[in-house]
Amino acid sequence: SGPVRVALLGCGVVGTEVARLLLTDGAELAARVGAPLELVGIAVRDVTAPRDPVVDRALLTDDASALVRRADVVVEVMGGIEPTRSLLLEAIASGASVVTANKALLGQDGPTLYAAADEAGVDLYLEAAVAGAIPLVRPLRESLVGDRVTRVLGIVNGTTNYVLDQMATHGLELQDALAQAQELGYAEADPTADVEGHDAAAKAAIVASLAFHTRVSVDDVHCVGIMGVTADDVALAAETGHVVKLLAIAERAGADGVVVRVHPALVSLGHPLASVRGAYNAVFVEAEAAGELMFYGRGAGGAPTASAVLGDLVTVARHRVLGGKGPVESRHADLRPRPVGEA
Ligand code: HSE
Repeated sequence: SGPVRVALLGCGVVGTEVARLLLTDGAELAARVGAPLELVGIAVRDVTAPRDPVVDRALLTDDASALVRRADVVVEVMGGIEPTRSLLLEAIASGASVVTANKALLGQDGPTLYAAADEAGVDLYLEAAVAGAIPLVRPLRESLVGDRVTRVLGIVNGTTNYVLDQMATHGLELQDALAQAQELGYAEADPTADVEGHDAAAKAAIVASLAFHTRVSVDDVHCVGIMGVTADDVALAAETGHVVKLLAIAERAGADGVVVRVHPALVSLGHPLASVRGAYNAVFVEAEAAGELMFYGRGAGGAPTASAVLGDLVTVARHRVLGGKGPVESRHADLRPRPVGEA
């Protein structure tokens, strides 16, 4: 069958890795899809900016809107709320499938995109939006959809975990550890989103919405970041057999509520979450029939996130070639987000 036309929106740390994998692994991916994946363009803000040599400059364009209309699959790794949301809605309306890593957008307004994709009958995949390379979104949307999830607890921001880990193991100050995390490509373009907890809160909103079949927006998430955590706090925690971790917690509350929060927490050294080092993420899911599940792996960085993007891309491209369709989010919400402290 003919090639699947792929448009890439964004060419930062993740986009560059996606372009690299499409180039180096193209033949293998084509065999898995049943058709070649043809990268038809890469939308960027500045076509003249310096790029990794793996990026074919002939593919660069600053007209994202024209690009999405030429694609079967739109892969969005540009981030931000607008113009990204409009571009993705345009892509969906024109019949393209969407793969996105955009936690900020999905955390803010996921239901608009889920509903648009459902109406258009196209796939919307988002594995890379939460916890990088770790398969978590698909287990929640598919494997566990027949169960009843009661609690999700995890470390979902690699930057802050790296920072807290460096503070604990090398006695670094927060700002110095953060500079390293930026250097390593873990942090957001504006690392405020990491250290203030907003990145984790967006991911918590996405996870809670999927796990509890409801609509939790980032505005419903009680959020405290790590800016108030000092080297002394971390040292004191160690003296009492604890580590400081930024946790995201979503749990059922009362008959019809769900409470979602992000804040630094003292984790006992014996707890499995205490041993999550560097930019790794880990997520516990508790479900009535399944019991306890744990997901662990690289939660940030270009290559791990690109792995999740490529997994989604191959899956939605396969659907286009062979038929089939991915999951749809329920529009009926059973549970409602509640403020912390109110059942
Ligand atoms: N800045 C994010 C993090 C990247 O540190 O986890 C992955 O979403």
